[in-house]
Amino acid sequence: MQPGAATAAVFAVSWQCLAHVSQFAQPGDYVAETVAGRPLIAVRGEDGTIRAFRNACRHRLSPFVDDGAGSCGRELTCPYHGWRYALDGRLKAATRFGPADGFDAGALGLVALGVRLWRGWVFVGPAEGAPDFDAWIAPVARRAAAVPMEAWRFAARRTHEVACRWSVYVENYLEGYHVPPIHPALDAEIVADDYRVTLEDRVAIHHAPLRPERAADAVYDGLWAWAWPNLGINVYRDGMMMERIWPLGENRTRLDYLYVFADPDADHAATFAMSDVVTAEDKAICEAVERNMAAGDIAMGPLSPRHEGAVRLFRDLLAAAPTPK
Ligand code: FES
Ligand SMILES: [Fe+2]
Repeated sequence: MQPGAATAAVFAVSWQCLAHVSQFAQPGDYVAETVAGRPLIAVRGEDGTIRAFRNACRHRLSPFVDDGAGSCGRELTCPYHGWRYALDGRLKAATRFGPADGFDAGALGLVALGVRLWRGWVFVGPAEGAPDFDAWIAPVARRAAAVPMEAWRFAARRTHEVACRWSVYVENYLEGYHVPPIHPALDAEIVADDYRVTLEDRVAIHHAPLRPERAADAVYDGLWAWAWPNLGINVYRDGMMMERIWPLGENRTRLDYLYVFADPDADHAATFAMSDVVTAEDKAICEAVERNMAAGDIAMGPLSPRHEGAVRLFRDLLAAAPTPK
């Protein structure tokens, strides 16, 4: 199962939040993820630099590791025929390959991606032709300037699979219009009438004022943003969660949450429990919408200018996105 070509084209030229730097304590520590059908790996080198590559051996395209995090030791060794690569991507040995005319090890290094570190997070994008990272993240960066996220440490990765196309889930993420009917517990924490989503470039910022009587113990208190095409940024009082909305197939999406906290070992059960409740509610409505969309016989109706401006932005960006080559 693979996402469609149009989705893959959108993701191939986007910045993706792959991991947190605290997951790369030593050289050889890696995080591997499949992003819109493309297996990727980020690994810390002997020189301390975190690099990212396609998780694909240049011989016959075996991945080096399954998706996940761990240590690959001092080199990346292909499990298929044993080719060995340095942590900077150079091919060190085409193990037992034998003599071959024209074999050029220098041309068979791993396919590299662009990497940007931002406030403790590792982002990957295309090696060439990437959108300007600083401009893309700027609306978030400005609002998060006082958030001490560099001090936070990786605590958990939690995932949920949803039977809908990724765009349905993103659209749902982009409006608070559905909060009162769909999320009663969340609705009890916020003033739904004052819910606003503001747009800046390719970022949407949610403003959901807390009810005064709930302000002391509410889980959601902080920055709540979305950055094109698929990243939710949820900042709490003592930590944050990066919400990657990743397409698995035409009608299948994985929500992939990375949590960092000031104290990763503290009890974060309330945060996880609230997230599970809200996610289950969003999953149910998105899967129901998907079934009607997949039937293909009815078009969607108008978007509310008051509530759904960010949905409009997302659709406009999708329409302007590169098309498959
Ligand atoms: S595919 Fe990697 S060594 Fe053959
Ligand atoms: Fe929701």
